[in-house]
This record gives sequence, C-alpha cells and structure tokens, in this order.
Amino acid sequence: MRKDLGAKAYLYPQPVLIISTYDEDGNIDVMNAAWGGMSDYKKISMCIDRGHRTTANVLKSGALTIAMADSEHVIPCDYVGIVSYNKDPEKAKKSGFTFTKSGKVNAPLINELPFAFECNLISYDEKTEIMVCEIVNISADERILDENGKIDLSVFHPITYDAANSAYVELGRKVGIAFKDGKALM
Ligand SMILES: Cc1cc2nc3c(=O)[nH]c(=O)nc-3n(C[C@H](O)[C@H](O)[C@H](O)COP(=O)(O)O)c2cc1C
Repeated sequence: MRKDLGAKAYLYPQPVLIISTYDEDGNIDVMNAAWGGMSDYKKISMCIDRGHRTTANVLKSGALTIAMADSEHVIPCDYVGIVSYNKDPEKAKKSGFTFTKSGKVNAPLINELPFAFECNLISYDEKTEIMVCEIVNISADERILDENGKIDLSVFHPITYDAANSAYVELGRKVGIAFKDGKALM
C-alpha cells in the first residue's frame, strides 16, 4: 500500500552546501544551502533566496566557494543556515570557521571543511532564484585523499539533509559500482 505525501521538497540524498562569499569591503559571509546539485560536468545550480546577503555578495563579486558540510562540523554548518549576515555581521566569526582567500576565485575557502568547489557565477535569475555557477576547481585537503588521489569517504564524512525529519545524516556504506553493476541485466 502506497501513501501520498503531497508536493514536498523531499529529495534523497540532498546535499548540504556551505557557500562562502566576500562583500565589496572584503567582509565574509557563509550560508547553508540544501537546494542544489550538479547541472552539468562543470556547473552547479542552486536555489538561493534573493533576500540573502550571500546573493547580494555573489552578484557583486561574481564568485563563491561551495564546501560540503561534514559530520565533524554540523553545529557551525547549521548555524550559518539559521542566522543571516543581514541581522548579524559577526556571523562568520561566530561560526568558529577560519578562512583563506581562494587562489582561483574571488571568494574565501573555509579551512575546516576539507572539500570545496571554487566557482564563478554564470547567472542568477531573480524570478526563479536559480543561481548557476561554473566550477573552476575543487580544493581538497590532502587528508581526505587516498593513495591514488581520489576522495576517500572513510576519512571524509559529508552529510545530507533529510528534509522530512529536519535532520542531517552521514553518507552510508558503499553498495555498488556505478556504470557497471547494471550490466548484469544487459
Ligand atoms: C538545512 C538548511 C538548508 C538551507 N537551504 C537553503 C537553500 O537551499 N536556499 C536558500 O536560499 N536558503 C537556504 N537555507 C537558509 C539560509 O542558509 C539562511 O537563510 C541564511 O541565514 C542566509 O544567510 P545570509 O543572508 O547571510 O546569506 C537553508 C538553511 C538550512 C538550515
């Protein structure tokens, strides 16, 4: 027996993206965005409210970094999603995160989050609030890479957003091999 849950924003898994930006004076803002994902090999699209300080910053600077929240930093990652720079300009400082200017784009990298996309803005649509970004580079801390230079999920613990339960959930175990397991039915 199936049940209708209605039109809800329940996507599994939904990423927890942590966006960092500079304003025109070099002040840092950080926000949490779960409504986003890959839209091409080198593009990320996210739905970002036009009223957020982050949106104003990206429209001016043309750049942002998008880190992945991990289970080691749930509290600051949630904090930047519930407080706006518009209300508290000390937000980035209070998060406890520290920052280094990206060498690739005009935006800060969060030192504590080991994986981040460095991006330039491609477009922002005021009506749909869809922000499309070009991935210029991925900056990864060496500690989350295996001996082949690949992301090692036994060390890196990205979290996903469970909208139905307002929860953050760590990624689970490997259950298959992409582009290969389906061949069993060919
Ligand atoms: C789990 C979670 C997911 C969120 N996802 C989004 C999102 O996808 N888009 C968005 O516009 N706001 C989202 N928010 C809300 C913003 O992060 C929040 O309003 C933030 O304070 C905006 O900060 P700013 O005004 O300093 O840019 C989310 C918040 C949380 C806690």
